[in-house]
Order: sequence, then C-alpha cells, then structure tokens
Amino acid sequence: MDTKKVKAYGTEALGQDLKELDISRRAVLENDVEIEILYCGVCHSDMHHVHGDWGKEKYPLVPGHEIVGRVIGTGPGVTKLKIGDLAGVGCLVDSCRTCESCKKDLEQYCLNGSTVTYGGYDKHSGGHTFGGYSEKIVVDEQFVLKVPLNLDLAAVAPLLCAGITTWSPLRHWKVGKGSKVAVIGLGGLGHMAIKLAKGLGADVTLFSRSKSKEKDAFDLGADAVVMSTDKNQMDAVSSKFDLIIDTVPYIHDVNPYISTLSIDGTLVLVGYLGGLEPILNSVPLIMGRKSVAGSLIGGLAETQEMLDFCGEKNIVSEIEVIRMQDIKQAYDRMLKSDVKYRFVIDMASLKNQQ
Ligand SMILES: NC(=O)c1ccc[n+]([C@@H]2O[C@H](COP(=O)([O-])OP(=O)(O)OC[C@H]3O[C@@H](n4cnc5c(N)ncnc54)[C@H](OP(=O)(O)O)[C@@H]3O)[C@@H](O)[C@H]2O)c1
Ligand SMILES: [Zn+2]
Ligand SMILES: [Zn+2]
Repeated sequence: MDTKKVKAYGTEALGQDLKELDISRRAVLENDVEIEILYCGVCHSDMHHVHGDWGKEKYPLVPGHEIVGRVIGTGPGVTKLKIGDLAGVGCLVDSCRTCESCKKDLEQYCLNGSTVTYGGYDKHSGGHTFGGYSEKIVVDEQFVLKVPLNLDLAAVAPLLCAGITTWSPLRHWKVGKGSKVAVIGLGGLGHMAIKLAKGLGADVTLFSRSKSKEKDAFDLGADAVVMSTDKNQMDAVSSKFDLIIDTVPYIHDVNPYISTLSIDGTLVLVGYLGGLEPILNSVPLIMGRKSVAGSLIGGLAETQEMLDFCGEKNIVSEIEVIRMQDIKQAYDRMLKSDVKYRFVIDMASLKNQQ
C-alpha cells in the first residue's frame, strides 16, 4: 500500500508527554478524501486515552477527533466533495456498513465494530488509526462531513464530537419546544448541550459544582443554574426534568439527580464509563418509571443534521485557540475544569514548529 509521511503530535508510551512524531497515512484510494487539517478540538476523551484511563492503548497514540480542514485530494470515486472544499471528520472513520446498526445510520453502534478515528483497527494498513493532532488525514468520503460555510471554522471543530454527542440524545429523546432539559457539568460537552437544547426550544437548566461558571451558563442560554453541591437548590428542582444529560467524566453519585427527573424522565450518561458508586437506587426509578441510559457520539447522517442545524441557527462552540506545543498545559487545565469551553488546536502551529 502506498503511504505518505505526515507530521503529527502524539505519545509513544503511557506516562510520556505528547511530542512531534511522524506517522504514515495511506495514499488516496478510490473513495478517499485527503484533508489538510486546519483545526482540531481537544476532547476530554483525548486526555482519558493519553492518561490510560480506559485501559491499554496502541502506540504511538495520536489523539484528536474534532477535525476540520480543507480537501486537498480526492480519489476518482469521490462525488460528495472536491478539492478546496471545507470538510469535517469526527470520531469515526469507518464501519462495516452492512449490519443492522449501519443500515439504520447508527454507525457508532456498528455490530462488527466501527473504526474510531484514533486507536482503532485500520483495515487498510493492518495497524491502528491516527487522529487529528496531525497535518493531514485520509478518510473515506462516507465518513467526511460537510461544514457550514457561514460559521467560524475553528469554533466548528468541537461540533464534531462535543456537538454530536449531545445532539444525539437530544434528538433520540425527542427534545423540542417546552421540553425540560438539564445538563450536568459545564465543559466542552455541557456547553454544547445547553446551546443545542436551547436551539431546539427546550427550557434548560445547568447542574454545576462551579459557582464561577454561573454567569457564563446564562450567557450560553441556560434558563436556570443549580449548584449540585447545595441540597436546597437540588430539592427546589425535584421531579422537574424530562431529560438530563450527564457529562461528568469521572465517577460520581448519580442518585441525587434521579429525584430531579419527572415521571418517565431519563438521565443519559455520556461522560463516565464504568460501574456507578454509590449503588444506583432502583426505588425512585420504579416509583416514577424513570430511566438511566447511555449514549455514544452519533451516526454520520445525524452528525450532518447537527452541523446543518448549527449553520442555520449560528451555533458554534466557545473556544480558546492554542498551539500544538501547548497541549500539556491544556490537559492540565482541562483536568481542573478550567476551560472556556473547548481548546482548539491551530494546526498551523505544527507546520511552523521550529
Ligand atoms: N459518550 C460519548 O460519545 C462521548 C463523547 C465525547 C466525550 N465523552 C466523555 O464525556 C466526558 C466529558 O467530556 P468534555 O470534553 O465535555 O470534558 P470537560 O470539558 O472536561 O467537561 C467536564 C465537566 O464535568 C464537570 N466535572 C469534571 N470533573 C468532575 C467531577 N469529578 N465531578 C463532578 N463534575 C465534574 C465539570 O463541570 P462543572 O465545573 O460545571 O461541574 C467539567 O467542566 C469525558 O469523560 C469524555 O471522555 C463521551
Ligand atoms: Zn470526543
Ligand atoms: Zn456495521
């Protein structure tokens, strides 16, 4: 297989800092699009992978799945995009395309295992995939999104993961005008959840531990803010919400939020992966026909729907643009919830590195 050397930023072992390294990308195949990456968002998942939070990783690990850039090459079979177009790539770069999930546009739940943008099995190279902390990426056109032209490109990048991960549950649980939605945690996912739920016409409440974020939440469109550490404030929203999107990345007690769900309400976990502690109490679930659910990113059609919606409603992420070389400080700040509200890497900094 023909390959090209591409400059990237990644880590070669657990515990090592990210640094500049070379990776190989396949030369453009029949249905491939080659994209010069202009911006890449920094998702908390990138940090989970680098820190080994989710088990054994494949190295070198090149994170990044909030990718926007410009098309610089196309295979002869490509019809959707042409050289010069803007393009986006999210968390998936392939799937089997034939299973029941794929046939329903739910590639994220591919029964044969979708190919994630980094650390996934790359059927072309036989190795693993490399993400967007790099100069270029080559992706089958079916997994490339069209980017609205009216939006700030750097601020579009986080829509490719933070946007779709919150959009998908909002759509699945049919949020619309009059729905009462709450969001737990004001970070990358949380701030997009507020904007998108507001865009769909919902009444939106933020649950946060951070008093300092209260004003920002209102500026982002929240109708109310509840300090999750204040029992009186929690009691005041008892039985209120149709849908709660829980974006908290680490283990936390979900039980206090269940009592804020209305009858038939659902709390959907999108952040933390793993066993819940303390134990989830079934009594309020049974007494109120309430659900606790999970949700993973979104399919390609749904991602395009979200991008088009953002184009129409002028919705983008709130971002802080950083250089590739500042990624360690960005991770350190993300760990302290000190991000307003998504870091986005200007990939020109990788090219211009001394
Ligand atoms: N399901 C999916 O498909 C999917 C997709 C992308 C990301 N994720 C995951 O979603 C999670 C959130 O990602 P993100 O990029 O939005 O992260 P983020 O920007 O770091 O935001 C997380 C927010 O959660 C709150 N928080 C952080 N630590 C907490 C703790 N120990 N206890 C309670 N609250 C805490 C903070 O909000 P306050 O300061 O307001 O409390 C923080 O701003 C990560 O675990 C990520 O891996 C899942
Ligand atoms: Zn992500
Ligand atoms: Zn499939």
